[in-house]
Amino acid sequence: MPKKLFVIGVGPGSPKYVTDIAKEAVRKSQYVVGYKYTLSTIEGSIDRRRQQVLEVTMKSQEEVYQNVYAKMKDGEYCIVPFTGDVNFSESEVVDRLLEIFGDDNVQIIPGISSIQVAAAKSRVPTDKAHIVTFHVTGDIEQKKKDLVQAVKDGKSVILLPRPWPRDLSKHFMQSDIAKFLRENGIDTTKLKAWAFEHLTTEKETTFRGSVKDLEGKEFSDLSAMVIDQVKRQTYLEF
Ligand SMILES: C[S@@+](CC[C@H](N)C(=O)[O-])C[C@H]1O[C@@H](n2cnc3c(N)ncnc32)[C@H](O)[C@@H]1O
Repeated sequence: MPKKLFVIGVGPGSPKYVTDIAKEAVRKSQYVVGYKYTLSTIEGSIDRRRQQVLEVTMKSQEEVYQNVYAKMKDGEYCIVPFTGDVNFSESEVVDRLLEIFGDDNVQIIPGISSIQVAAAKSRVPTDKAHIVTFHVTGDIEQKKKDLVQAVKDGKSVILLPRPWPRDLSKHFMQSDIAKFLRENGIDTTKLKAWAFEHLTTEKETTFRGSVKDLEGKEFSDLSAMVIDQVKRQTYLEF
């Protein structure tokens, strides 16, 4: 049997959002490799006497994935947990893991995304929203244009901003987004906004106001934003 990999989503931070199937996959694995915050979310399912746990950073991850893959014996399992849903805003890493292990040896288990929790809290259904992540290393210029268009089209938006502390020109956080929309012809004083930090954890905060109010405000890296243009429509209307 080849070396196997679980790539799982563990929810936005609270262990209550870790699914049973994700916990089972953690228990089945000989190697657990992840970022500090994500590992802390599943700490309760890890047995450090039996499993090898490796913490990675953006800088160290390539070397660690390669080393673990080389060390694994046939039939062994490795698990790489991701915050939220592994299928949202994680593909830069997931694509690399698929390359290393091979598609047929990887099982992807979805999780509950911060985007879904933000949708639930703001009462903006995901099917009525333009959903976008700016939390990518690649170019975001087209995504920015699409954002303006979506707002002009009257759509709601649920988004993950882009923190980039080492190069502020690449930063695209709530304040930058509010300014960008205003500079692109949108009346941000009338646009309803939410910003959520540290969702599902004891540090969770909620901002509610207009998009204009977001200008000059700072939020944690761990935050999501919603622009609410929802027109509620029930089945009674059809
Ligand atoms: C690389 S993206 C991963 C998104 C994740 N896969 C998801 O589905 O939520 C990292 C970003 O997700 C958002 N995020 C993750 N957990 C969060 C939380 N507990 N509260 C607010 N935002 C969160 C933040 O915008 C953070 O910078």
